[in-house]
Amino acid sequence: MPTMADVARSAGVSVATVSHVLNGTRPVLAHTRQAVLDAIDELGYTPNTLARSLVTSRTRSIGLAVSAISNPYFTEILQGVEAGALEHGYSLLIADPHDDPEHERKVVQLLHERRVDGLIVAPSADPRELLAYLGRHNVPTVFLDRIVGTPAAGAPLFDQVCADSAEPMARVVTHLAGLGHRRIALVAGLPGLSTTSERISGYRQGLVAAGLPYDERLVVHGDSEAAGAERATAALLSLDAQPTALVTANNAMTIGALRALRDHCLSVPGGMALCCFDDFAWADLFSPRLTAIAQPSKEIGAQAVRVLLDRLAAPDRPARTVRLPCTFVHRTSCGCAERPGPPELSERAMKPAGPESGVQDPAGRDPGRVRPSAQPLKSAKGTVS
Ligand code: HPA
Repeated sequence: MPTMADVARSAGVSVATVSHVLNGTRPVLAHTRQAVLDAIDELGYTPNTLARSLVTSRTRSIGLAVSAISNPYFTEILQGVEAGALEHGYSLLIADPHDDPEHERKVVQLLHERRVDGLIVAPSADPRELLAYLGRHNVPTVFLDRIVGTPAAGAPLFDQVCADSAEPMARVVTHLAGLGHRRIALVAGLPGLSTTSERISGYRQGLVAAGLPYDERLVVHGDSEAAGAERATAALLSLDAQPTALVTANNAMTIGALRALRDHCLSVPGGMALCCFDDFAWADLFSPRLTAIAQPSKEIGAQAVRVLLDRLAAPDRPARTVRLPCTFVHRTSCGCAERPGPPELSERAMKPAGPESGVQDPAGRDPGRVRPSAQPLKSAKGTVS
């Protein structure tokens, strides 16, 4: 196996120069650098990153801990993290905490013991053990997707990257209200996750903006997964005053809600209008096509890497929270008519569809739904496009 000394001899430079070329630790003249690269190529030299880590105390690796990796939302986050890491010459170690606080602390400890330079973690609903571990060991960490509350006195302890959940949620509620719905239900996620509370708060903001009262019976917890959402939706359908529109707070819960609607022989949107948080590749293959809020999942992952690398470069910089905007993907499960032209037009092309434009009224279940107002849709500020 050729060594660094072999490369240095072949290129006619010192071992230190080879090291500077490999690690980018000092500028090296272009022709010297090329001679080193040619020698590396010719000899088939492979750097020993373990040996390098002993010298630099850096492994150029990032530990990623996210639950539900098979969920397309988290798979895309993973793709973003991987691409970002690769771009900056970092490799990834991945662990699944299964949304379980104890397991979470264990896998984070394992990643830390492998001496990753930093961690990217989507924290569970009860991250106390995790926070205690990270605090004790001072591990550079970025939280992703779910953010952790700020300490009582002010600035957040950790860098965080997430999607802006509340505003797009308010946006779909006002959209449904604009279509005449007055009983709009929410299938919310697992209690304790910031994404759950922000989406509930966005839902409430939407009701206020639409002048609709809050009815706690219309907010049920699907616990962020399909089976929970199926049960929660069935509970909504057993209410005396059923909702006429449903908002699901993530992709898995959309599947569960659709199962419950099917089991109750309710069609979408005629029997129940539906809008979902999370877009996914086959959301436009359903009939009707699903109106959804798309999260910038890959960008969340890539941005988390950038924030972590900034932290590694400047450990004392103040922690920051980056919120990325979502996109309202207007299709037809909300009850709007299929529009001519390309399937996903911008929201400016959206019009609340009245019965005359093909939207069915949920038969005999008024006053959950009134005739749609003639008002144009209000555009949510900034974050939803
Ligand atoms: N958080 C945010 N969005 C999601 C999640 C989650 O845990 N699961 C599916 N979409």
